[in-house]
Amino acid sequence: MASTAPLSHATTKHSRLHEWVGQVAGITQPDEIYWCDGSDEEYERLAQTLIEAGTFQRLSETKRPGSYLALSDPADVARVEDRTFICSAKESDAGPTNNWRDPDEMRETLTELFRGSMRGRTMYVVPFSMGPIGSPISYIGVQLTDSPYVTASMRIMTRMGQDALDQLGEDGDFVPCLHSVGMPLLDGAEDVPWPCNGENKYIVHFPELREIWSFGSGYGGNALLGKKCFALRIASVMARDEGWLAEHMLIMKLTSPEGAVKYVAGAFPSACGKTNLSMMIPTLPGWKVETIGDDIAWMKWGKDGRLHAANPEAGFFGVAPGTSRRTNPNALKMLAHDAVFTNCARTDDGDIWWEGMTPEPPEHLVDWRGEDWTPESEATAAHPNARFTVAIAQCPSVAPEWDDPAGVPIDAMLFGGRRATVVPLVHEARDWEHGVFMGSIMSSETTAAQAGAVGQLRFDPMAMLPFCGYHMGDYFAHWLATGRREGAKLPRIFYVNWFRKDEDGKLMWPGFAENSRVMAWIFRRCEGRARAIETEIGLVPPVGEGGIDIDGLDVTPETMATLLEVEVEGWKEQLSQVRDHYARFGEKLPAELRAQLEELEKRLGI
Ligand code: GTP
Ligand code: SPV
Ligand code: MN
Repeated sequence: MASTAPLSHATTKHSRLHEWVGQVAGITQPDEIYWCDGSDEEYERLAQTLIEAGTFQRLSETKRPGSYLALSDPADVARVEDRTFICSAKESDAGPTNNWRDPDEMRETLTELFRGSMRGRTMYVVPFSMGPIGSPISYIGVQLTDSPYVTASMRIMTRMGQDALDQLGEDGDFVPCLHSVGMPLLDGAEDVPWPCNGENKYIVHFPELREIWSFGSGYGGNALLGKKCFALRIASVMARDEGWLAEHMLIMKLTSPEGAVKYVAGAFPSACGKTNLSMMIPTLPGWKVETIGDDIAWMKWGKDGRLHAANPEAGFFGVAPGTSRRTNPNALKMLAHDAVFTNCARTDDGDIWWEGMTPEPPEHLVDWRGEDWTPESEATAAHPNARFTVAIAQCPSVAPEWDDPAGVPIDAMLFGGRRATVVPLVHEARDWEHGVFMGSIMSSETTAAQAGAVGQLRFDPMAMLPFCGYHMGDYFAHWLATGRREGAKLPRIFYVNWFRKDEDGKLMWPGFAENSRVMAWIFRRCEGRARAIETEIGLVPPVGEGGIDIDGLDVTPETMATLLEVEVEGWKEQLSQVRDHYARFGEKLPAELRAQLEELEKRLGI
């Protein structure tokens, strides 16, 4: 990389930034320091560096122009929640759902780990804006990393380079994000295609200082520090302090056949359908979906008393398996060129493949471990958490307002998750407080997006369990305070579940593009034009007239009735778990939510 260092055009007179870069270099001892300017030429050079290192394999220029495949170390394939730490000054500020460590002790541990950790490598200085440059919703971060893969990914995922530096000026505030793969190259040692430190991962947040230190992993949310670490864990703390919301939510624009527009934000846990919903092509005639964000929403108050959302990111880091022309045609179109694929399988003609991409798998592949694969092989060809990285601008359904500094006013919020039982296809909250209650008792079956067992039911309030940077009880209180704000015009809140199964374990709802039918009902509710029935758990659409349009759909009214049924016995059984879940928050559980739970118990006849 020595020869490319002088090619950077990045400049800044920000003395605090220069000082910090110097300090970190003093500890980590990289061979070179490279300041990213964010140019196309720079990305090309990074890609070349990655090809030479064996990290990137160039895909076929005819099949997948400008695209690369990276195969990670098998010890580095997903977020590591048990190695993620919130180091607030007080343990009680991290709360029962986070791993807390004393900040001074952690800083010492990390300083020793980072000492010399970049030897033999280049340290990249990656300035980036989370959110449209110059927007009142946005903030700047600077990541220092010894991973060119992370640097190239940050170029796709954020507004990265000189523009961010210019926005920072000579004295602007930035969130320092320090990252090392934790594998120094000593005495000219050979590098490996995916350097990491599998035994020594630390994903660490200092909320009071708004600082991030990440060591040992090069994968996704562990390493692209603008995403979960900054835009959720640190930003959730900023949002609490400053009176706004930083949420694990997609942002979509819905247009009705009459041309009316509503903006919807939706929180589903990792690998539970945000990307797919945000870019679906509705099957209901005349409806249109446009994409603003697929993972994170920052929402601040407008003068109109409404919450205005911006997507802090500029790219998608999306789940590959299950993505197909049938389930998500827009995704396949946006992935036709200039994309990075990680832990997907490689076809013999230099393209990529993953489970579910085509009805029949190819005869032969090289799997994500780099080994020969045939349909007879036992393991999957792509890792279940294989992902694509691509610019949002490449999405065919991108909304023109995706980069608008003003953000978009949110009309409705969705909560949801994977629930094979009990939770109906959709129900609506009676009011904001009830909606916060619904979000607070959200639960979902775990997926491959985090290391650990898949398919286990766990509570994941507002899909923020792994991402809330402070005490979850205080987080609930912040949501409730949001609803009490003077003059607030609040979005309506809905809870959806695309994943209900029948006795044979078969999904009862077709999902994907057919979710537009549920979105249309939600839209009509926002307009005050659709009917709903009061039930024990909230407002549910009637089966038939004024409810969800199932015209042309291969779902019988009987199945619809089951999908929308309130299973009183199932809810009763679940409530004992809800009580245990709430007990974790002790004194910090807001009284309003306790009252909501009691109210629900009463309605269910407990
Ligand atoms: P993260 O990026 O991890 O936050 O995930 P996400 O919430 O964006 O989930 P995504 O849209 O990538 O979907 C994850 C998996 O669920 C993919 O395999 C999808 O094919 C599948 N999926 C998404 N929507 C639906 C749906 O409506 N029905 C069914 N059955 N599967 C879905
Ligand atoms: C998630 O797990 O919710 C993701 C992927 O969006 S990662 O960036 O790895 O966190
Ligand atoms: Mn996510």
